[in-house]
Amino acid sequence: MRPVIVAGNWKMHTTPADAGELARTIGARTRVDGVTVRDALAGPDVAAPDGTGLAVGAQDVHHEAAGAFTGAISAPMLDGLATWVIVGHSERRRDACETDELIGRKLVAARAAGLRAILCVGEQLADRDAGRAHDIVDGQVRGCLAASDPAALGGDDGRGFTIAYEPVWAIGTGRNARGADAAEMAGAIRAALASLAFSGGGDDVPVLYGGSVASSNIDEFMAEPAIDGALVGGASLKPDEMAAIVARAGLTAAARAAA
Ligand code: PGA
Repeated sequence: MRPVIVAGNWKMHTTPADAGELARTIGARTRVDGVTVRDALAGPDVAAPDGTGLAVGAQDVHHEAAGAFTGAISAPMLDGLATWVIVGHSERRRDACETDELIGRKLVAARAAGLRAILCVGEQLADRDAGRAHDIVDGQVRGCLAASDPAALGGDDGRGFTIAYEPVWAIGTGRNARGADAAEMAGAIRAALASLAFSGGGDDVPVLYGGSVASSNIDEFMAEPAIDGALVGGASLKPDEMAAIVARAGLTAAARAAA
């Protein structure tokens, strides 16, 4: 069974002190005892300190393991600091001109260092309006994974690799996709994975929805069996909102586990 995953993407917000306070408050409101960013970072097993299922992720990683790349952070440098990483976020594609090919290399570097990776894909508004959303996302998945070994991406437990479908027009706009549309795109993503020879036809790969997720709309996405959670931006900076999103996704996780 695929895990339910809720990831908060704080982007370039918070100071270290603010981040600790925010994590503590979200932790308290989701009844995760004693969770702080610092505790999570300091724990020997940062994937699940205190068995909480909470982990810390980085927002990007360099595609080389080491080298003369001033200002860049490699996957091995994140050892002990993070167990997850986002690659291919649309803000990186836009601001750092990241291509699918480069993002694919970051993915390989992240997985080689044992990081669990969330690969972001998603179409622009003009693409959706022109009926090209499916083709764009299919092309992004293929372009990012063309050079990857599907078996190496998932890792031994098959849990190393997650895809976030994030339509660019929904990010930070307050305009979210419809649940049914996100589910359809998850289907397109898994079809692309299947054609790339992913085991189980991509059925083992969690697909998250991202783009203006809030406590008021998370149920619409979690009601879709093809959607396994959310990548949350703005709302993850608001403790009550994030706690409510986690709680609601937790209900789905429990229901799926019981089914
Ligand atoms: P948003 O951001 O929830 O603020 O739309 C999502 C993201 O950028 O991952």
